[in-house]
Amino acid sequence: MKVTAIYGSPRTGGNSEVMGDHLVTCLEKSGATVKKFHLNKMNYRGCQGCMGCKAPSSESCVLTDDMTPLLKEIPDTDVLILSSSVYYGDVTSQMKGFIDRIYSFYVPEFWLKENKSRLNPGKKLVFLLAQGNADENLYSDITPKYNRLIGTHGFDKNYCVQACGVQLKGDVAKRADILEKIEKTAEELIG
Ligand SMILES: Cc1cc2nc3c(=O)[nH]c(=O)nc-3n(C[C@H](O)[C@H](O)[C@H](O)COP(=O)(O)O)c2cc1C
Repeated sequence: MKVTAIYGSPRTGGNSEVMGDHLVTCLEKSGATVKKFHLNKMNYRGCQGCMGCKAPSSESCVLTDDMTPLLKEIPDTDVLILSSSVYYGDVTSQMKGFIDRIYSFYVPEFWLKENKSRLNPGKKLVFLLAQGNADENLYSDITPKYNRLIGTHGFDKNYCVQACGVQLKGDVAKRADILEKIEKTAEELIG
C-alpha cells in the first residue's frame, strides 16, 4: 500500500500533525510505504488558472516548485491522507493551495467527459481535521464538500476523523477517543 501523507498545519507538532503521525505509524506497522509532505515547509503557489495543464502537449501542472514532486506521487498513491487544522471553518490556506493544484489532474474539458480525471479509480482519501470548537456539528460540511470534489479524481472511498475541542498544541495526544478512531481507520484502510 502506497500512502502519501500531507500535513496542512503551520504549527509544528500541532494537533493535526499528531493525528497524521498516529495514522502513518499504524499503517507503517502493516507494511505500508509512506511519503510525508509538510506544506508549510514547502515553497509553492496556488493554482494560477493558466490552463497549461490542459494544453495538448501537457499532461500535468506546468508550474515548477516544491509542489511538483508531491503531485508526481499522486498517480501511484493508494491512500491520500490530508491532515489539517480548521481555520475559519475550512482547511488551512496551505492545504487549499495543494487542493487547487490537483485541478491539473482533470482532463481537458472534463465537464463534458464521463472520465474526468487522469488518475485511476480505486484510491482512498482520509481527512484528519483538528478544530478548537467542541461542537462536532460545526464544520461537518468541510469533508463532504472536498470528498465530492477530490472524489472525481478516483478517490472513491473516503474516511474522516474530526477532532473537536482541541485548541492548544498537544491537546489531541490526551484524547484517547480520537487516537482510537484513527487506529480504527487504519484497520479499515488495511482491510
Ligand atoms: C487562524 C486560525 C483560525 C482558526 N479558526 C478556527 C475555526 O474556524 N473553528 C475552530 O473550531 N477552531 C479554529 N481555530 C483553532 C484551531 O483549529 C485549533 O487550535 C486546532 O487545534 C489547530 O490545529 P493544529 O494544531 O493542527 O494547527 C483557528 C486557529 C487559528 C490560528
